[in-house]
Amino acid sequence: MAFTRLSVSLLALAGSVLADLQPIEMKGSKLFYKNGTQFFMKGVAYQQDTSAAGAAGAVKFVDPLADEDRCKRDVPLLQELGTNTIRTYAINPNSDHSGCMKLLQAAGIYVISDLGEPSLSINRDDPHWNTDLFSRYQKVVDELGQYSNVIGFFAGNEVSNNKTNTGASAYVKAAVRDTKAYIKSKKNSRWMGVGYAANDDADIRQEIADYFNCGTVDDSIDFWGYNIYSWCGQSSMDKSGYSNQVKFFQNYSVPVFFAEYGCNLPDGAAARVFQETEALYSDEMTNVFSGGIVYMYFEEANDYGLVQVKDEQATKLKDFDALKTQVTNAVPKGVSRDSYSPSAQQQKCPAVSTTWKANSALPPSPDSSLCDCMVKSRSCVQKAGLDSKKYGDMFGFICGAAPEICTGINGNSTRGIYGAYSMCSDSAKLDYVLDAYYNKLNKAASACDFNGQANVQKGASDSSCDSKLAKASDINKQVATATAPVGGAKSTSTGDSFAAPGAPMARAFSVGDYTIGLYMLVAVLAGAGMVAL
Ligand SMILES: *[C@@H]1O[C@H](CO)[C@@H](O)[C@H](O)[C@H]1NC(C)=O
Ligand SMILES: *[C@@H]1O[C@H](CO)[C@@H](O)[C@H](O)[C@H]1NC(C)=O
Ligand SMILES: *[C@@H]1O[C@H](CO)[C@@H](O)[C@H](O)[C@H]1NC(C)=O
Ligand SMILES: *[C@@H]1O[C@H](CO)[C@@H](O)[C@H](O)[C@H]1NC(C)=O
Repeated sequence: MAFTRLSVSLLALAGSVLADLQPIEMKGSKLFYKNGTQFFMKGVAYQQDTSAAGAAGAVKFVDPLADEDRCKRDVPLLQELGTNTIRTYAINPNSDHSGCMKLLQAAGIYVISDLGEPSLSINRDDPHWNTDLFSRYQKVVDELGQYSNVIGFFAGNEVSNNKTNTGASAYVKAAVRDTKAYIKSKKNSRWMGVGYAANDDADIRQEIADYFNCGTVDDSIDFWGYNIYSWCGQSSMDKSGYSNQVKFFQNYSVPVFFAEYGCNLPDGAAARVFQETEALYSDEMTNVFSGGIVYMYFEEANDYGLVQVKDEQATKLKDFDALKTQVTNAVPKGVSRDSYSPSAQQQKCPAVSTTWKANSALPPSPDSSLCDCMVKSRSCVQKAGLDSKKYGDMFGFICGAAPEICTGINGNSTRGIYGAYSMCSDSAKLDYVLDAYYNKLNKAASACDFNGQANVQKGASDSSCDSKLAKASDINKQVATATAPVGGAKSTSTGDSFAAPGAPMARAFSVGDYTIGLYMLVAVLAGAGMVAL
């Protein structure tokens, strides 16, 4: 096995502990080992269903890389499958991952991970990109970035999944931009990519692929992961739509791979033959696609598993051997990095239209120092320790009674207009509107009470905050009357007959579907006048 050779030779050189896997790098639309050989993902999704966390009601998850005993059980099986990459959907950045990461290193397995977790991710129905989310994303980067076998991250998974929620992509792209900048800013940073994992929806296929690969490179994805379930059982390049995907992405300027595949039709997961795996690593596809990730290791209620885990014991299902045969037989032919000169350009940003509602002017970068300055300087704020469940009523009341106040905390991704504090946490936003409302009522004591849930404080003045606060206040003045993009990042805009429909996908674990939108509540409550003054 290649890795054994590598580690032995490095051991001989360094006389030290087990050698780390060589980092993966990107050039143009391809991935390479550091040594210049092209890298093709032979991946498996590795994350248990949320119910395995024993959560009743609360959205919890099992961090798949935090329990070394489970990794000891599973990594040899992943290795037997010929896996060189796993995809994880949610990790806990406060846990220790060194045990599992070491086992994966030793097995020659890389990791690509989503940055969110079920209760902290960009929600398609109530999208935000704020200090809480960015802080979580940074922690995941800090934690996993320690390991050389981490390829990169997904800033979102199927967030905009059809034409009804395309505006959410602006927030995901802002997350891509800021996470990339964060990785770059870290000392001794190496390349790790930040990409997006998309479903395939015919209505928005062109726009969404263009959107994430348009404008400046710094603002755009490093890779496009496609969740594709269109090859079911026995099929063909044409019938499955794979040949159209190859054509569609032939001029895409960053790597493209299947972030999930493995249709379980017609007869369930165990009957899968993985004929598509052979196609994926064939010459017809390897020019354009960098391999893919099979959904998924664990057999769950949605029936996509390769392995059944019961009482901590893992049992291979019938499709395990089918996949193993296909993956271990596949020898994708790559190019060498030195002989490859990429020519593809960034796409043109899609215009806002009836199907595409995300402006190319992106939301602002979360800036916790600005939010902190703002909160400190307010005169009316929430009472210390207020339960966040109470926020909805308070936002609802103020935004209903004085909608102009809330333009400073809201964003409109279609128009590209963002309040200066739209990137703050909900808690900071609440203080902003409480104070603005109090001021609107000329600081009447009764205007800062809200049934004892708010109180007056002596707003601290801090000279290091002054210019920031003045700038934010200026932005919010413009936002209140804006007709063109303002408050976010500058606009970077410069502008078929496909697969058989993908198999319906019942995902056991899906990030981004859970968070209950605070502002959906606001919409319901606005004007209801529920809070007595
Ligand atoms: C680069 O590393 C990979 C993975 O260890 C190995 O398969 C490949 O043969 C190496 N290429 C060269 C040119 O040494
Ligand atoms: C769009 O996606 C949402 C969320 O998955 C779903 O509830 C809705 O029915 C979909 N709408 C259309 C038109 O497909
Ligand atoms: C891709 O680029 C090549 C070379 O520039 C061009 O001939 C081809 O038409 C392009 N394909 C698509 C789908 O845009
Ligand atoms: C954004 O503004 C447009 C145009 O004024 C409006 O139709 C749309 O409802 C707004 N979207 C949000 C999320 O407020």
